[in-house]
This record gives sequence, structure tokens and C-alpha cells, in this order.
Amino acid sequence: MSEHKRENFSSKLGIIVATAGSALGLGNIYRFPCEAGANGGGAFLIVYLCLALLIGTPLMISEFVIGRRSRSNPVGAFRRLAGKKNAWPVVGYMGVLCAFLILAFYTTVAGWTLGYLAKSVLNHFAGQDLPQIQQQFVDFTNHQWWPIVCQLVFLALTALVVARGVKDGIEKWSKVLMPLLLVIMFVLCVKSLTLSGAGEGLRFFFNPDFSKINGRVLISALGQSFFSLSIGMGALITYGSYIGKNDNMASSALGVVLADTLVAVLAGIVIFPAAFTFGIQPEAGASLAFTTLPMVFQQMSGGYVFCLMFFLLLVIATLTSTISLLEVIVAAFTEELQLSRPKSAWIGAAATAVIGVLATLSFRTGSPLHIGSSTVFDLLDHVTALYIMPIGGLLIVIFVGWRMKKADVMDELTNNGKLRAGIRNAIRLIIRYLAPVAIAVIFISQLIGK
Ligand code: PFF
Repeated sequence: MSEHKRENFSSKLGIIVATAGSALGLGNIYRFPCEAGANGGGAFLIVYLCLALLIGTPLMISEFVIGRRSRSNPVGAFRRLAGKKNAWPVVGYMGVLCAFLILAFYTTVAGWTLGYLAKSVLNHFAGQDLPQIQQQFVDFTNHQWWPIVCQLVFLALTALVVARGVKDGIEKWSKVLMPLLLVIMFVLCVKSLTLSGAGEGLRFFFNPDFSKINGRVLISALGQSFFSLSIGMGALITYGSYIGKNDNMASSALGVVLADTLVAVLAGIVIFPAAFTFGIQPEAGASLAFTTLPMVFQQMSGGYVFCLMFFLLLVIATLTSTISLLEVIVAAFTEELQLSRPKSAWIGAAATAVIGVLATLSFRTGSPLHIGSSTVFDLLDHVTALYIMPIGGLLIVIFVGWRMKKADVMDELTNNGKLRAGIRNAIRLIIRYLAPVAIAVIFISQLIGK
């Protein structure tokens, strides 16, 4: 696509909201508590916060720099900026593949959110005790066709929005709905803090036991921060390519990192006190959010309405994330293969559905869809968050820090000299030294630790 035909986000708010829309999603409300629960609670939180701020922010800025400088999808971006005849576009291909793999298993859980929205409309949780609510989760995820129908509907919704384009589709939706999610998370926090297990839950979540920090916690926290911030695989290169030339990318990135971290921490404050109150193991994994939250709603006056609002907003937060995943694939298809936007969206969604359905089926009790000891679902999750994203992130910061010309990077960071260079020089140094070393050390330490 030629440059003048590319769309831009209409304002700085547009970028922040769309990027936050991509970042905020199941990663915060579903995956973060799972990972924190499995990796020692407070210890994980501390490592996570450090990594999100110190590595996540510069990496997000790096992706914006590549995107806006190249005005291209991840594959084309590396081709344009690195010049022809080298291997850098492989990083772009890796990103497109990663988006595809994430979208496949992400829509499994996205489908559950739709199913749970329907359950909350139908008041399925009313008067149920914990074993019954746990059984509902097992029944739903094991049902012959509901999880698959919900997943396919979710994918179709995503394709519909993406087919319409950046401004009308992505930006408009995110702007209204993201702030609402924040409000409801606050309300839920307040409720959760009044439950009897609040003290124990908060201790688990906030009291770091530093002896628990090991290679596995480090890589899990790194993978979680990349996953949660949508970095390391080109989603934000793609969104960066829609950023206008006068927008301040560094402050936008910081705003998104802070908002994303806030929502993850709020999710922890909602879920752990509730888990301890109702006797749910913090390492319960997939079922954690889908059993604790309906229990919390049961304890609230107006629980029906809150439950409904919560699952509605969760569906929407999830949708703004799946949109950004599909957008990576669509930007690559339209620009590299010259397909139309709607065609790219539907082909991308259909291809995702094939692997996605396998991921969903692998969740069933006794499913043979295992590779080694992992389900297809877990395998897709681990391969993307623990391998492709860290490697992608490492290559992205190396590209911006060492391959791109300093003057070009600083032009992007300062909007051609309009913004102050001081702090942005420091950001470039972090991109050049701290971020690659930290990612490499964590990545290698987990390989050796195995
Ligand atoms: N950041 C999203 C979440 O936390 O739910 C997941 C995600 C979206 C990852 C888009 C990667 C991506 F490109």
C-alpha cells in the first residue's frame, strides 16, 4: 500500500487508547493471576513490575519507532529500515507467526468470556456454591460444541471490526470502553477487600518471598510482561505505523505500561482475596478467574448487574486485543501480498480457526490433543510467551539500538527535534544496553536452568 493511503490514528489519545486496548485483556485479568499464583505471588509481582517498567517500556517505544519510521507492517518495516538482502525481515515474519499462534489459543479463552457473558445474562450463578460454580466451568469447557461456537463467533466479530479499518473500527471502540473497564475493576476491588480472606490474599499477593525468585519466575514474569503489553511480536510495530508524526511516543508508551500494570494489579487484588476467602488454590490455573469472580458477584448486592457488566467489559477488552492480533496478520497480508483488507481479515481469521479449535478441544478432560505432557493450548501459550516473544523482543531492541542510525532513532523519539532530547538519549541507552542484556540473561538462564 502506498504511504499516502495508510490510515493514522486521529490523535495521541487515539494511540494510547488503541494500544491500551491491545494491551489490556485476558493477559491482565486471566493470565496474570494464573502466573502470579503459580510463581509465588508477591515475588512474581515485584519481578513483574521491574521488568514491565524497565524493559517493557523501552521495548514498546522501540516498536513504535520502527513502526512510525517505516510506516509499514512488521515484515515490510524491517525490509525498509534494514535495506534489502539481509535477514531482518525474518523478525517480522516471526511476529506475524506469533500473532497467529497467540490468536489461536487466545480465542479459546475469549470464547469462554462470551459463554460466561451469556451465563451471566441467564443468571446461571445465582444461589450456587463453590463446587457448583467449579462444576459449571468444567461442564462449559468440556461441552461438545459451546466452547467452539463461542470461539468462532469471537473470531468472526474480530474479523468484522478489522475488516473496517483502523479509525472506524479499532480506535472508536477502544476509546469508549477501556475507561469503563477500569471503573468496574475498582468497584470489584473494593468488594473483594471486604471479604474475610482479604488479609491472607493480600499477603500472598504483596508479600514477596525473595527465596522464591528463580530462573523460572524470571522468565515467566518476562513472558507475562511481554504478553500483557503486546510486545515482542510486532503488534505495536503495526500500531506504531499508524501514529501521526507529532505524537509523543515515549509518553504514550509509558501511559500504556502504567495503565496495563494497574489493571493487572487490580485483577490480583480482586482475585486473590476472593480465592483465599472461598478456599480456591491460588495456583488453580485456568479456572481461577472463572470461578473466583462469579463467587465474588454472589456476595455483592446488585451482583447480577455487576456480573453482567464485568463479563461484557471483559469481552470488549478481549476483543480490542484480538483485533490488534489480527491486525498484525492483516497489515502483512494487505501490504506484502496485496490482498484487500476484508479478504485478509477473513482469511486470517479462518486460518486461525483451524489451530484455535484444536487448542479449545485440547482443553477437554481426557483429550488426546497433547504434545508431550502439554495440551495444544498450553504449548501455544508457552512457545509464544517464553520463546518467540523474548527472542523477538531481544531482536527488536538490538535493531533499534544497534542497527538503526542514531540520528533516525532520535528523530523519531524527539519528533524531529521538537521534543527534549535529554531523557530520550537515556531511553536510547536503555534500549541499546540494559534491555538486550537483561532479556538475554533471563532467556539464557532459563535454558540453562532446565
Ligand atoms: N496484551 C494482551 C493481553 O494482555 O490480553 C494479549 C496480546 C494482545 C498479546 C496482542 C499480543 C498482542 F499482539
